Amino acid sequence: MFAKLLSFAASAALALAAPASFIPVPDDIILWSADISSPTILSVWDVGSTQTVTWDASKVPQTSANHTGIVLLGYSEDGSENLDTQTPLASGFLIADGKVDITVPNVTTRSDYIVVLFGNSGNSSPTFTIKQ
Ligand SMILES: *[C@@H]1O[C@H](CO)[C@@H](O)[C@H](O)[C@H]1NC(C)=O
Ligand SMILES: *[C@@H]1O[C@H](CO)[C@@H](O)[C@H](O)[C@H]1NC(C)=O
Repeated sequence: MFAKLLSFAASAALALAAPASFIPVPDDIILWSADISSPTILSVWDVGSTQTVTWDASKVPQTSANHTGIVLLGYSEDGSENLDTQTPLASGFLIADGKVDITVPNVTTRSDYIVVLFGNSGNSSPTFTIKQ
């Protein structure tokens, strides 16, 4: 389910890092840094449980109050994020809310999962654990 998704992450990162004059960035992508405050490196999520992903929404510009976000699950390996773009953990929520509830999917136990918040520059959490 995570296979071959590196290229998506890499190209998204490239597009966002490139000057606007070189690669057009869609108008609805807002660039700000919202540090993910949960999960933390100490988090252990059970498969099937409900968890809350939280981030610092205080930096969201007022003009972006109605922008919606996407939270993706991935795992950190060999320097790549291996994001599962097929099944977002959450989408359609307001970034300005600073949090969204998700249900932990039935994935294999690993201790190097990450969540990434898109709708902005793609903020990655620290690695954390999901267990069966
Ligand atoms: C956000 O949506 C509300 C309700 O539709 C609207 O009143 C407000 O002007 C919008 N804010 C921005 C910044 O677009
Ligand atoms: C997750 O999937 C495995 C393999 O299909 C299954 O054995 C297990 O019961 C599932 N766990 C949950 C919590 O659904």
